[in-house]
Amino acid sequence: MTELPGLEAPELGPTGRPASVFPEPAALKRHGPARIIALCNQKGGVGKTTTSINLGATLAEYGRRVLAVDFDPQGALSAGLGVPTHDVPTIYDLLLGTNTAVVDTIVPTSTPGLDVIPANIDLSAAEVHLVNEVAREQILARVLRQVSDKYDVILIDCQPSLGLLTINALTAAHGVLIPLECEYFALRGVALLVETIEKVRDRLNPAIRLDGILATMYDARTLHSREVLQRVVEAFGPQVLETVIGRSVKLPDASVAAEPVTLFAPEHAVTESYRQLARELIARGAVA
Ligand SMILES: Nc1ncnc2c1ncn2[C@@H]1O[C@H](COP(=O)(O)OP(=O)(O)O)[C@@H](O)[C@H]1O
Ligand SMILES: [Mg+2]
Repeated sequence: MTELPGLEAPELGPTGRPASVFPEPAALKRHGPARIIALCNQKGGVGKTTTSINLGATLAEYGRRVLAVDFDPQGALSAGLGVPTHDVPTIYDLLLGTNTAVVDTIVPTSTPGLDVIPANIDLSAAEVHLVNEVAREQILARVLRQVSDKYDVILIDCQPSLGLLTINALTAAHGVLIPLECEYFALRGVALLVETIEKVRDRLNPAIRLDGILATMYDARTLHSREVLQRVVEAFGPQVLETVIGRSVKLPDASVAAEPVTLFAPEHAVTESYRQLARELIARGAVA
């Protein structure tokens, strides 16, 4: 195809669409109520926790007030942000309705504007305890409602399952962000996840929407990564976010150092990609 004189072909991003420039977001004049986003994929190791931590940190850099809720008994989000998980009140206490106030579980992090509600292994017993509760799917929603006005966004880092805890997260959430690893079988299970989101929409939370699918651990040098991303775009079209998170050892290294990459490697390309993700979600209206 010959090009018209003076018209250059637009630069294509990794998802094959013309690369957008997401503007630096304006500062917020007032804060809250929070939009609640569940980071969800029943497959483990796809980047849910890493994205919760680093999206939380980049949104906080843009002046958003962020609460990250650790909703996985492994407690990786808490650990990755240097938040203690033992002998402290956790999300488990809030779910069980013991006499713990939500504000007493919230821990600030070294990133101003980013707070955490921690979790630990106790949470693994929660499903058993909650199964006979009245409105057992709505318990997390009721908990978060109490602090929603203090935050612009609440990120829920789900565990890798579609059990009652994840249903609670989807019932509390306004939106879902699905991280997908650019690897073989990435799409396996996503149909079931989408079906689960639809059931929750029908029965429990009519307002929930899919905020986007985030490709993670992308390696532009491998044909394999590019093929997987192409298949994901074919399957989900514009629901795939333009921002793609590359594979970088800075992410696990930062977690070991118990810091978000914004502190651990502020100028690194992968940190910039998490900043772009924050800007894209703000531009899409998923975050204020
Ligand atoms: N973009 C990436 N590049 C390289 N390693 C990554 C990336 N994202 C996550 N990881 C690492 O992969 C592992 C799984 O990521 P994690 O966020 O814990 O997934 P999940 O919460 O979905 O189980 C962790 O060791 C994490 O540090
Ligand atoms: Mg995790």
